[in-house]
This record gives sequence, C-alpha cells and structure tokens, in this order.
Amino acid sequence: MSMKEKLEQLEALRAESELGGGETRIARQHERGKLSARERLDLLLDDDSFVELDRFVTHRATGFGLEDKRVLGDGVVTGYGTIHGRLVYVFSQDFTVFGGSLSETHAEKIVKLQDLALKNGAPIIGLNDSGGARIQEGVVSLGGYADIFLRNTLASGVVPQISLILGPCAGGAVYSPAITDFVFMVRGTSYMFVTGPNVVKTVTHEDIDMEGLGGADVHAGTSGVAHFAHDSEPETIAAVRELMSYLPQNNRERAPDGAGEDPHDRRDERLLSIVPDNPNKPYDMKDVLAAVADDGSFFEVQSDYGANLLTGFAHLGGHVVGIVANQPAVLAGVLDIAASEKGARFVRFCDAFNIPLVVFEDVPGFLPGVDQEHGGIIRHGAKLLYAFAEATVPKVTVITRKAYGGAYDVMNSKHIRGDMNLAWPIAEIAVMGPKGAVEVLFRKEIAESDDPAAATEARIEEYRETFANPFIAAARGFVDDVIDPRDTRPRLISALDMLRNKRDENPPKKHGNIPL
Ligand code: HXC
Repeated sequence: MSMKEKLEQLEALRAESELGGGETRIARQHERGKLSARERLDLLLDDDSFVELDRFVTHRATGFGLEDKRVLGDGVVTGYGTIHGRLVYVFSQDFTVFGGSLSETHAEKIVKLQDLALKNGAPIIGLNDSGGARIQEGVVSLGGYADIFLRNTLASGVVPQISLILGPCAGGAVYSPAITDFVFMVRGTSYMFVTGPNVVKTVTHEDIDMEGLGGADVHAGTSGVAHFAHDSEPETIAAVRELMSYLPQNNRERAPDGAGEDPHDRRDERLLSIVPDNPNKPYDMKDVLAAVADDGSFFEVQSDYGANLLTGFAHLGGHVVGIVANQPAVLAGVLDIAASEKGARFVRFCDAFNIPLVVFEDVPGFLPGVDQEHGGIIRHGAKLLYAFAEATVPKVTVITRKAYGGAYDVMNSKHIRGDMNLAWPIAEIAVMGPKGAVEVLFRKEIAESDDPAAATEARIEEYRETFANPFIAAARGFVDDVIDPRDTRPRLISALDMLRNKRDENPPKKHGNIPL
C-alpha cells in the first residue's frame, strides 16, 4: 500500500474507534440523559487539548463469541489534556461497548494512565460508566480491577484523584472511586452499590430501587461516599473543572494562586453583627466565610453530609485554603460522627497537597447520646484530632464564639501545632458551657438556696465573667491575639503570607495508625 492508502486506512480506523459501540447505542445513552464517553471529555477538558492513547487496543479474550466482537478502544477512552491550561490524565468508560465493562485490556489502558500520572505528577480523573467486571473474562477482569486499586492506593496523597460516577458502578468496582479523593455523582443516572437491589431483596428481603439504594443523594447525604451530587452531567463536569482550580498538580507543588481583585486589607463591617448577642442563638457560618474570603468564594465539599461542619476550598489573599468551620446553624455546630469523619478526611487531603488550613471555630463540644457513643464517636472524633495534629501545612484558627471542652483541643488548637490562633472578643473558651459547669460545681449550693433559679443565674453570670472569654487563653498564649472581627480577613491573609514558607515535619515512620 502507498503512504496515501495507509493514511486512508488510518483515518478509517480512527473514525471507527470514535464510534465505540455504534450510533444506536450512543443514541440510547442520550435517551437516558447520559452523554457519550467522548462528549464528556469534550466538556471536561480545555478545547482541543485532548490527546488520546491506545485507541487501537482490542480485547484478547476468546469464547462466548468474543472473537467476533472486538471494538477499537475496548470500552474506555484514555489520554491526557488540560483543565485551565494544566495537565490532567483522563479515562472515560464507554457504556456502548460491552456496557463499559472492565476487561484485561480495558484495565491495562487505565493502569498505563495511572502510571503516567504518578511518574509525571499530574491529577487523574476517572469518568465511570460501567457494568463492572467483564463477565466473560472472569478472574482476569478481577485481576485488572486489583491492578487499578493498587495504583489508586499508591497515587493517594501523591496526585489528586477524582472520580465521576456517570452510570452504574457496582460490585468491587466501587472501590476504585472510594479510594480516590473526590467522588461526583449525578442524580437519576448514576449508582454505586456493592450489591444491587435484586441481591438485597434476596438476602435481606428489603425492597428498594437503584436510586434509593445507591443514588447520588444517598451517597452525598447519607453514606458520605460521594462528595458532590448534581442534577446533570454538564453541571457535574463544570463542578469538576471548578474543583481543579483549587488543587495543585501533585504533593510537591503549591495550589495555583487565585486571581481575585479583593483588597487584602479589606475590613468587613458585616462581621460585627453576624453572631447574635445571645450565645444560644444560631447563625450561618457561611455568612462569615462570605465576608472574609476573596470575593466571598467558598467551594463547598460534602455540603449535604455532616452539615454541622463545613468543609471546602476558598481563596484568601490569593492563597488557596482549605476551610474547616463549625456550622452553628446545624445542630449548634456540635461535632458528631459524620462531621468528625468528614473533617478528618478533608484535613488529610489538604495536608497531603500543601493546602493551608483555615479553621473557623464555634463549637459547643461533641454530641452526647447513646447512638453516638455506641457508634464510636470516640474513635471517629479521634480521627479529626489526629488529622489536625499530624498536619504540617500552615494552620490558622479563628474562634468566633464557643470553643468548649475536647472540641477546643481538636479544632486546630495551639497545642496541636496551630500556627496562628485568633479569637474574637466574644469568644468563650472553657471546659464546658456556663450552665453545665454551674450545675456540676454548685449543685448542692443551688439545691439548698431559697431561690434556686436566681442562685443558678448568679453563678452562671460569675462563671461567664470569669471563664467564658478569650483572655485567659490569650494570657497563656493559647490564642495569639484577640482581634476586632472586622479585621479577620486582613489578619488571616497576613498569617498566610507569614506562613508561606512554613516547614514542619513529623517523626520518621512508615505510616501512622489513624484510628480508622
Ligand atoms: C460484560 C456486560 C456487562 C458485564 C453489561 N454488559 N454488563 N458485558 N460484562 N459486566 C453488556 C450487556 O450484555 C449489554 O450488551 C450491554 O453491556 C448493555 O447492558 P444492558 O444490560 O443492556 O444495559 P442496562 O439495561 O442499562 O443495564 C446495565 C447494568 C446491567 C445494570 C449494568 O447490564 C448489569 O446488571 N450488568 C451486570 C452487572 C454486574 O453484575 N457486573 C459484575 C459486578 S461484580 P449488548 O451487547 O446487549 O449491548 C464486579 C466485580 C468487580 O464488577 C470486582 C472488583 C474486585
């Protein structure tokens, strides 16, 4: 064949590979409100940046008529491209080819990308839409999954790993996304479960549909498996692009600075009136974040799970920061099992990827209750404590109101290496709240008093005057300064600038033993 003929053959093969399982199956994908594997990559990546690898790979399996059923690419589109001009590796499973199921060669394509991502220090983004292990390939397919799981684990903490669930994701296949840093799901079209509704029905006699068992809202709100749930694929993909703007390429780089115009010395009058005078009244910590962050930016992570603790990314004076904030508007901002786990995982992500932590603290303590104790709040609360304590990135805390009990220690206190701990003048820092303390300390005196209510009130007032303020902590240097709330933004930015080149290390070890 001449070069011209060879080129024509190449073009024909390329065109064939673009079609995956064919136009009918692509149309079926669209009917279900799903995009094709390639359409998804078009939305995710910067225009014309995608470079495909392994488009001519086909499976090597035989039996079950597979010899006659080889599709170029074998059900996954892989390659690299850019998001906001920065390199990312991507794989996008193609449900039109064997239901996106994972064969030996399909796995090899993903593994090749994972190795490239690790070697070259760039994030890897997986778009999952798959019927799981390719049934005809048996254990070879299971081995392929394990090869992927291993690399997910090795890459953890080295390069950011993002998973989009855009269709079924069942059986052991869920464990690759579960090891990655952030999981995105789409309402109505994506599902994750270890066993589907039919198996559940057989084993436990529970009647439940796919959405109810493992849909986006279930995983974003109840199980905590997913970090984001959106109504459509384009919204999901846009959110992934936004998330990427906050992440560094790898664990040796800094996250890219934000380009906002918000003046670094901007004071904000709103901060004087957000916290109510009555310490028992709630307020929305997001109002504080909106007044402090660059242009009010806050990209929330896991908004529907453990909502009594806010986690997310923001820019502050251009620095990307990880925000961890008690949310007094939900359960008075108390720490419970869900909030502790969510916070711990987020803190560890930020620490792994050099993202400074900024903590806004208003916490009455850990949540009391049989459910919490039996559920292991001790073990789970310890995760948050451990995560903050081991973190070596710049760590800054602002106590806006309450910092009581163990939660005071946990929420990035000075004692566990907080670098800059600030408090507003209304802060209350003590072992417990005034009412609880008075009931313990003066129970007998109050019981014997002629007017127990008045006696209680008097003691509460005395306790509040003595302990419920920031100055005892400040006198010890446990808070570095008590600040005018209006100065919060300039003071935080100053701290982050000051800490920009912070170096801190933990003792050499293979790895710690976080109380999982
Ligand atoms: C091979 C598969 C497949 C699979 C689907 N297909 N799943 N081929 N291996 N695992 C094929 C179908 O034969 C069909 O081919 C096409 O993909 C589309 O599938 P449909 O069933 O028509 O689609 P739909 O009705 O949308 O149902 C999707 C589905 C269902 C819910 C995913 O296909 C399904 O239940 N598949 C099996 C899921 C499963 O049990 N997987 C193993 C899980 S265990 P044609 O040619 O007709 O278009 C697992 C272990 C991982 O994955 C272990 C890791 C350690």
